[in-house]
Amino acid sequence: MEKINRSDITPSWLYMNRRQFLQKVSLVGGAAILAACAPGVIPTEEEEKIIQYDAPTDITSIKTYNNYYEFSVYKDRVFELAENLKTDPWTVEVSGLVENPTNFSMQDILNQFTQEERIYRLRCVEGWSMVIPWVGFPLAKLLEVVKPTAEAKFVRFETLADPEQMPGLTANFPWPYQEGLRLDEAMNDLTILATGIYNEPLDPANGAPVRLVVPWKYGFKSAKSLIKIELVSEMPATFWNLIAPREYGFYSNVNPDVSHPRWSQATERRIGETQRRPTLMFNGYEEEVAALYEGMSLQSNY
Ligand code: MTE
Repeated sequence: MEKINRSDITPSWLYMNRRQFLQKVSLVGGAAILAACAPGVIPTEEEEKIIQYDAPTDITSIKTYNNYYEFSVYKDRVFELAENLKTDPWTVEVSGLVENPTNFSMQDILNQFTQEERIYRLRCVEGWSMVIPWVGFPLAKLLEVVKPTAEAKFVRFETLADPEQMPGLTANFPWPYQEGLRLDEAMNDLTILATGIYNEPLDPANGAPVRLVVPWKYGFKSAKSLIKIELVSEMPATFWNLIAPREYGFYSNVNPDVSHPRWSQATERRIGETQRRPTLMFNGYEEEVAALYEGMSLQSNY
């Protein structure tokens, strides 16, 4: 029988960067996998299982099962309605309480900030999840350039709302889509601005040309197609909190112990699987982010 090469069964980007993959996947899987990441070490069968448990979701699902209300409330319709979104030229205004307010073109963003791959879990508040191999860079790197002043305590994110291009804007929601983070959350190394997925530029459906990704919070915090990042002193209003304040708080950390008023958050359906799996505290990133919330009630600060 012919021997099956690993390259026959593994996507090439994964095969080519096996060692790098193991290093990166340790970010997804947590400490259990770190042991497998020592140079030259081939993962054991047990470690392989852990890696497979959080294997990246297939590219087609990532690109065709989307929440992007500016286009449609139907997840399977977004990619078609969004495909012609004009993303060039594109400018992200970074302003507010900063020493160096800057308008970044996409070219500036790609030239000034080294792009790296980050494989993260994405947990939607609705109860489904994926694992996405993003390309992007820490938001902290951009904030270091604009230099928040001492008064800056929060970061507000605003996304494109163009009625010419976005048919979903006719729905009665408080547009534009806006989100917010506390400054220390924004500075955390896990918080990235993503420009790609699976080593390709983002599709409009996934938030082209640049979006926020905050992997320990419910997916709605990860605002797509950013046009403005503003440093502010007060907690900013957020899209879903304006719509349903009792259901969607400012923090929205993934937390299996805090139920949504209408459903439990204890489990999730990983896209591509049939059985539900347990949801992890802070989406599995407890070690990296729990300190941000020390002494805070996670029940009342939902
Ligand atoms: N950003 C904008 N501008 N509009 C949206 O409707 N939906 C959010 C978030 N960012 C949304 C958005 C929600 S609810 C989720 S779960 C994620 O995007 C989904 O990202 P994905 O489609 O790339 O998986």
